[in-house]
Amino acid sequence: MAEPYILITGGCGFIGSNFVRHMLAKRRYRIVNFDKLTYAGNPENLQDIEKDERYTFIKGDIAEASDAEKVFELPIEFVVNFAAESHVDRSIIDPDAFIKTNINGTFRLLEMARKKNVKKFVQISTDEVYGSLGKEGKFREDTPLAPNSPYSASKASADVLAMAYYTTYGMPVVITRCSNNYGPYQFPEKLIPLIISNALDGIELPVYGDGLNIRDWIHVADHCEAIDVVLHKGKEGNVYNIGGENERTNIEIVKLILKVLGKPETLIKYVKDRPGHDRRYAIDSTKLRQELGFKPHTDFAQGMEETVKWYVEHRGWWERIKSGAYLEYYKAMYGNR
Ligand code: NAD
Ligand code: TYD
Repeated sequence: MAEPYILITGGCGFIGSNFVRHMLAKRRYRIVNFDKLTYAGNPENLQDIEKDERYTFIKGDIAEASDAEKVFELPIEFVVNFAAESHVDRSIIDPDAFIKTNINGTFRLLEMARKKNVKKFVQISTDEVYGSLGKEGKFREDTPLAPNSPYSASKASADVLAMAYYTTYGMPVVITRCSNNYGPYQFPEKLIPLIISNALDGIELPVYGDGLNIRDWIHVADHCEAIDVVLHKGKEGNVYNIGGENERTNIEIVKLILKVLGKPETLIKYVKDRPGHDRRYAIDSTKLRQELGFKPHTDFAQGMEETVKWYVEHRGWWERIKSGAYLEYYKAMYGNR
């Protein structure tokens, strides 16, 4: 029997490209990668597999009806929606694209998937939809949504829309909400690759506020495996939190990177805080562990060492990004801080 088609949107981004590679290696699907190639979408991320006969790339915008219709001319049976504007800081400067892609785009995909009776629609969401935690407690799947940034508000909107398609139309929707990812191919405007690449170039390392905001870090390979498990075993109409059980302050992360690279802490520069900066994220992933039997296995110290090594060995990859249009963004974001 021919392998079923799975649509992976945003497959040229950080997590999407890791997931495409994971699925080609571990599963028998024909993969359709539908990506707009925004500043964050980089076909270089999938250069090693682009000739695989089970892989097709279609350039297009999930929010454009004509683009989405074209993709769904293929007999798509499964959808995993990674495509999104994903950077909180950019959403603060210019939220428009976040509303268009993250809300309208998800709506467009849900509509197409409904018409084509897809067998499963996995909406890749984020723990940021739950808002910010104090010192105690963790996010559970029934924690009320309380997003604080235009980014997280747009992701929360997409979540409730997706769930409405389950309730109203009986569409087989599942939602994953994961914590902060690290690993290869992350765009170098996010904390970890930004710090590694700046440190390698001997440039100041911008740490927002007091550096004591906490994130729950998970290796991207563990996230991809968890999505695979949810795709195949997740119950329709359910949300699954995915976390690393690995809370770290930002300053701890920055100092760890400097230690691995053998660079001085004098590079650290505390800068003005991000407006509305969520203080702490922490995930309770009991449901994923107990109901679907999954838990992450990457040891954080080892995962970080390998990640730092990857960026050291792939200097060309991030230098090409950092020398382009990204420079303008960097000036606007950090110029007067
Ligand atoms: P990313 O910014 O690296 O990649 C996003 C990809 O989506 C890019 O390839 C981009 O070209 C594509 N894209 C953007 N707008 C599009 C559109 N309108 N149509 C088609 N393609 C479009 O993002 P990422 O870090 O890989 O995140 C992927 C998903 O995972 C997002 O939905 C994000 O909300 C979620 N998530 C990310 C993290 C994290 O730590 N990075 C954690 C939890 C959840
Ligand atoms: P980021 O990678 O943007 O992820 P998110 O905001 O979605 O969690 O940032 C992770 C943390 O690092 C967050 O608390 C903001 C902080 N941060 C800095 O201190 N300096 C920086 O230059 C960046 C990009 C982030």
